Amino acid sequence: MNVKSMTEKYILKTYNRYPIVLEKGEGVYLFDDNENKYLDFFSGIAVCNLGYNHPKINKAAIDQIKKLYHASNFFYTKPQAVLAKKLVEKTVKEGKVFFCNSGTEAVEGALKAAKRYIYLKGKKKYKILAFKNSFHGRTLGALSVTGQEKYWDGFDIKNENVVFIDYNDIQALKKVFERENIKIVILELIQGEGGINVVNKEFINELLNIKKSKEFILIVDEIQTGIGRTSKLFCYEHYNFLPDIITLGKALGNGFPIGAFILKDYLKDALTPGTHGSTFGGNPISCSVANVVIDEVSKDEFLKHVDFVSTLFFEKLKDLERKFSFLKDPRGKGLILGITTKVSARDIAIEALKEGLIIGIAGNNDVLRFEPPLIIKENHIEEGFEKLEKVLSKF
Ligand SMILES: Cc1ncc(COP(=O)(O)O)c(C=O)c1O
Repeated sequence: MNVKSMTEKYILKTYNRYPIVLEKGEGVYLFDDNENKYLDFFSGIAVCNLGYNHPKINKAAIDQIKKLYHASNFFYTKPQAVLAKKLVEKTVKEGKVFFCNSGTEAVEGALKAAKRYIYLKGKKKYKILAFKNSFHGRTLGALSVTGQEKYWDGFDIKNENVVFIDYNDIQALKKVFERENIKIVILELIQGEGGINVVNKEFINELLNIKKSKEFILIVDEIQTGIGRTSKLFCYEHYNFLPDIITLGKALGNGFPIGAFILKDYLKDALTPGTHGSTFGGNPISCSVANVVIDEVSKDEFLKHVDFVSTLFFEKLKDLERKFSFLKDPRGKGLILGITTKVSARDIAIEALKEGLIIGIAGNNDVLRFEPPLIIKENHIEEGFEKLEKVLSKF
């Protein structure tokens, strides 16, 4: 039995997979089991920001595997302590981290911390504000704040305490705070799954303005936008504020499973022994790798590089918009970019594979999503867009 038929027979069909079997990666390229080469413009959904077979990542993982690959959280381990210090120092300065294994768990934990803080303050009745078109993960708590009904169908989502308003709608924002007792807000600064929708500065400013008079906990979901993706270590740095809680996942481990949430000091007593935990959270291998990731991505010259290549990338998208009438509205920040398409995004992605290019899709199959490894260079962009033009000419 080959890989495809084994997968179809034995793995639950929750994904529509593309018809290739990936076997290895090198830099910004992936290879299938027939040695076909693909330029990667998607990084495994914004995960492999440092690309594949990165010598420092490999070394960190292999060295740690030889030492210790798991310890329960009843003990102290160095990789997670060092990583926590880095994350706190680079964000909230005073505060704490919790480690888990995925993005959705980071969101669950962040919501638990926020809810418990409010509970300990003696407040019982309040609302959570979330946004239409958002995506925060697939577990029940994260789904309850995900503003896309298609993901709720059949799961009995308990979100009567969650209010959803349109993203970037300042009037709706003002009104909802007049009408409801909002104590938690959860927000993506760029809706990734939702279609690469970037938050407006004015919208953020209004939210921060409201925060001066109304007390609420602001959770910013940086699972897709974090770790250099927007040319800053975290996307919130573009907007000059500091969230109360930051959720992380995806690129933090460059492919090694890890999630985290970082909270400000005032929230640190909300979760105490017994109130939250994870068997694998803070795994030594993932944390050792994440330490390398943070060191590499935080470098000034690295972030400048992301900024530089992202400008080239964006120009190319604008060119495509001019050349192909079915494409419009290139948008995004750094290397999380999208363009709306009237032709099925999935059909384009499938054709792109035949040309040796991997691209992503978002929204309702109407957005082409580009999230290449951040180490991408000018020549890769040239190569990718040559391929893409060839593909688009077929539609
Ligand atoms: C903004 C955001 N939050 C949460 C998640 C969920 O992360 P995971 O798939 O690791 O559970 C995602 C995944 O795409 C995401 O983009």
